[in-house]
Amino acid sequence: MIISDSQRMWFTTQLLSYYKLSGRTLPWRTDSNLYKIWVSEIMLQQTTVKTVIPYYEKFINAFPTVLKLSAASLTEILLLWQGLGYYQRAKNLYLGSRIISEIYQGAMPGTLNEWLKIPGVGLSTASAILAIGTNQYHTILDANVKRVITRFFTISSNNHPSKYNKTLWEVAQKLTSKEEPGDYAQAIMDLGATVCLNRNPECGKCPIHLHCKAYISNSVQNYPEKINRKPKTTYKEVCLLIRNQHNKYLFVRNDKNKLLESLWQPPTFPWPETNKIPTLDSINGLFTLHYPEFRSGKIVTLSKITHDFTHRTNDVYPFCIHTETKKNPTGTWLEIEEWKSIPVSTLYQKVLKAYLSVEQS
Ligand code: ADE
Repeated sequence: MIISDSQRMWFTTQLLSYYKLSGRTLPWRTDSNLYKIWVSEIMLQQTTVKTVIPYYEKFINAFPTVLKLSAASLTEILLLWQGLGYYQRAKNLYLGSRIISEIYQGAMPGTLNEWLKIPGVGLSTASAILAIGTNQYHTILDANVKRVITRFFTISSNNHPSKYNKTLWEVAQKLTSKEEPGDYAQAIMDLGATVCLNRNPECGKCPIHLHCKAYISNSVQNYPEKINRKPKTTYKEVCLLIRNQHNKYLFVRNDKNKLLESLWQPPTFPWPETNKIPTLDSINGLFTLHYPEFRSGKIVTLSKITHDFTHRTNDVYPFCIHTETKKNPTGTWLEIEEWKSIPVSTLYQKVLKAYLSVEQS
C-alpha cells in the first residue's frame, strides 16, 4: 500500500500532539522502568487499562523489581493475579523473571531478539516494551492499532488474511515515528482505546478524522472487518463442596484444565447430560463413585452459576455434601473462609461466595 511522505508525516505529527495534550496519565508511564513496562504490557494483553490499574499497583507493590518477582512463589503471584484472568500470563511473568535473573543477572533485556525469548512476549509486546521503555524504533500492532489504521486507510482483507496481516504490519511500520517511537506507540494505543472505539467511536474528538477514509465515506463501523468467530461452547460441570465432620471443605489444585491450571477450587466433574439438571440421586452416585471411602450425608443444592470466558461458557451446578471420613484424599481440607488466602479463579470465587451467602442466611 502506498503512503505518501506528507500523509505519513501528517498522521504521525497529529498523533504525537494529541498524546502530548490528551495522553492518559497511567501508573506505568511515570518512569522508563523496563520491568514495570513489561509487567504492564503483559497485564494489558486482552485486558482494559481500567481493570489493569489496581492489579498493576498491587503487583508492583509486592514485587517492585524483577529479582523480587523471581524470588517469589507461583502461589504468591497467582494470589495477586486472581480475578484478572488468563492465568498463563502470570506464570509467564514468573518464568520470565527467572530467566532474566539467571541469564541476565537481573538486568532487563535490551533487544527485540532477547525479549522474544521471554515466555508470553510476542512481536508486538516486545516492540511495545522497547519502544516505550527505551525509545527504540519498533512498531506495535495490537487490536487498537489495527482499528485505527484499517479505518484511516479503509484496509480490508479481501479474503487474504496473511496478505492483510502483512499489509497491516507494513502500514503500521511506515507510520511509526522514528524520533519518538515510544510516545507514538502510546498515542496510537490511547486513541484506539478512548476515541477510535469499537462501538460508538467518537470521531468528532479524533485528531485524524479529517483524513480518515472510513469517516469520510461514513463506513467506520465496517472496519476492522469482523472475523467470523465460532459460537461459544457451553461446558457443564458439577462442583462439590465437600464438608467433613470438622466443618472443613475439600479444595484441590487444578492440574487438568489448562485454562485454570495451578489455581485451587472445590472438586468438579463434567456433567455431560446436556439437557438434564443433576438430581440428588445422581450427585450421590457421582460422589460415591469418586469418594468410595467417604460416607455421604446431607446434600444441599445451590443455584447454578454461569461464567463466561472469552471463548467458552461454563455452567456450574454446585452442591454441598456433608460427609464423614478418616481418610485424607488428594487435596486440602480448609475452613470455608480460608479460600480467600489461596489463589481461586473468578468462577469458583462466584461459587464460594454464593455458598457463603446461603450458609449465612
Ligand atoms: N494497551 C497495551 N499497552 C498499552 C499501553 N502502554 N498504554 C495504553 N494501553 C495499552
